[in-house]
Amino acid sequence: MNQQSPVIHFYKGENIPVELHKTRIVQKLFLVPIERRLEALREGGYNTFQLQTTDVFLDMLTDSGTNAMSDNQLAAMMQADDAYAGSQSFVRLQKAVEDILGKKYLLPVHQGRAAENVISRAFIKPGNIIPMNYHFTTVLAHIMENGGKIEELLCDDALEMKSSNPFKGNMDIQKLEACIQKNGVENITFIRMEASTNLIGGQPFSIKNLLEVRVICDKYGIMLVLDASLLGENAYLIKQREETFKENSIADIIKTMTGIADLVYFSARKLTSSRGGGICTNRKELYQKMEALIPLFEGFLTYGGISIREVEAMAVGMYETIDESMICQSPNFIKYFVETLDSKGIPVVTPPGVLGCHVDAMSFCSHIPQNEYPAGALAAAFYLISGVRGMERGTISSVRDEKGDEILADVELLRLAVPRRVFTLSQIKYAVDRMEWLYENRKLIGGLKFIYEPPVLRFFMGKLAPTSDWPLELMAKFRRDFGDSL
Ligand code: F0G
Repeated sequence: MNQQSPVIHFYKGENIPVELHKTRIVQKLFLVPIERRLEALREGGYNTFQLQTTDVFLDMLTDSGTNAMSDNQLAAMMQADDAYAGSQSFVRLQKAVEDILGKKYLLPVHQGRAAENVISRAFIKPGNIIPMNYHFTTVLAHIMENGGKIEELLCDDALEMKSSNPFKGNMDIQKLEACIQKNGVENITFIRMEASTNLIGGQPFSIKNLLEVRVICDKYGIMLVLDASLLGENAYLIKQREETFKENSIADIIKTMTGIADLVYFSARKLTSSRGGGICTNRKELYQKMEALIPLFEGFLTYGGISIREVEAMAVGMYETIDESMICQSPNFIKYFVETLDSKGIPVVTPPGVLGCHVDAMSFCSHIPQNEYPAGALAAAFYLISGVRGMERGTISSVRDEKGDEILADVELLRLAVPRRVFTLSQIKYAVDRMEWLYENRKLIGGLKFIYEPPVLRFFMGKLAPTSDWPLELMAKFRRDFGDSL
C-alpha cells in the first residue's frame, strides 16, 4: 500500500490539491465555438445527456465509468481468464471483495442499478416501505417497479445548501423509529443507507450514525442494506471529519462500514473505476435468495454480464480504493472547486462533498420558477458559455405522481462531477472562471419546458426547449465580453 501522505503542505499561498500521480496516456479535447455549442444544445433538446462528446470540452457529467484507471488495472486486464464459468478472474475478484469489503458471498452484476433490480425483485413485496437516508434515481425506479415505496429520513438540516454539518447524509434515528411504528415492522423490507448521498450533493454519513441505524435494525429484526457505490470517498471524509476515526486507515474505516451492513451493493463504475458492480454479504440465506436472478438478468455467476477483463480491473480497483493517496484526489479537488466558488459568493452546496461540485440552482437562478427547471436551465447555460458539461440534479431528475403532476425536487442542483485523477487544476480554474461570468450574467438565463417526456427516468432521454430566446441573448453577451474567444 502507498504510504505517501495525501496532503502536501505549502509554506505560503493557496492551499492547492496536489496530484499524487502522473499522466501517461492522454486524450485530446476540443473546445468548439459557442455558436456550435448552441446548435448542439438545440440538437440535444437542452439535455446535457444528449450531447456528443465531440461538442464537449470538460466532461463533468459524471464520475460513472469516467474515473481514470491505473496502470495496474490495465495490466491486470491482460491476464483475464476468459471463461463462461469458473473463471479465475472471478476468484481474484471474490478475494478482493472479501479482503476489502469483508464479505465472502459475491454476486457480480453489470452495473449498480442491476444490483438494485436484483435486490428489489428478491426482497420487495407490493406495498412495502423502504426507509433510507436519501434515494438515488435508479434505486427509486426499481423500488417503484416492484410496488414498493420509499421514506427519506434525513436529518433536518440536510437540505440546507449552506451548512457546517459535516455529515448531512446521516439518517435521523427518531424519524426512523417513527417510520417503523407508523408502517409496521412487517411492511419494512430493509433499511437502505447510501454512502455519500448522491442527489443532495455527495454528502457523507458518519460511522456513529450507521451504528445507530444498526441498533434499530437489531431491535426490530430488519436487514440493513448499504449502497457502497461512493464508499471510498465517504470513508475518506469520515477520516477527515469524524474524530474517533482520525487515526484509522481507510481500509479499517471501509471494513467497519461494510461490517455494520447485512448486504452491500455497489456500482464498480464508481467504486473501483472500472465497469460492473456487485452484491455481497456474509449471510448465505440472503445470497441464495438472489442467486438465481443473476443468470436470469445478468449472466453466469462468474462474470455477471461484464467482460472478464473488467472483472480483473474491478479486483485491482477494489484494492486501490483503500489507498489514501488515490481516494483523496477527487474530494480534495472538489474542496478546492467548492471553496473557490463559495469565496466568490456563488451559491454552492457546503460543506464540500464527494463526486462533484454542486451549484445551488434555486439560488443562482432564483428568477426561474421551479416548474421551469432552474437546474436544467443552469446546466444548459453553463455548457453554452463554457463547453463544460454538468448534470441536472433537480426536478427534471424527479418523477411525476400518480395523477401526473410534477413532484418538485427538494433541491435544484447543477452537479459538476470531478472524476478521480482526470482533470487538472487549470481545468478546474477554467470552470470556476466561466461560472463567475455566468453568475454575473445570471439574469439572462431563462426557463425550460419539456417537448418530449418519457415516462421513466425522463432526465436521460427527455428533450426540452427554452421558454424564450434567452440562449441567443446569453450567447450575444458572451461574444460582447469575450470577443471571438471560444
Ligand atoms: N447508487 C449510487 C449512489 C449511484 O451514484 C449510482 C450511479 C448508482 C447507484 C447506480 O449505478 O450507474 O452503475 O447503474 N450514479 C451515476 C451518477 C449514474 O452519475 O451519479 P450504475
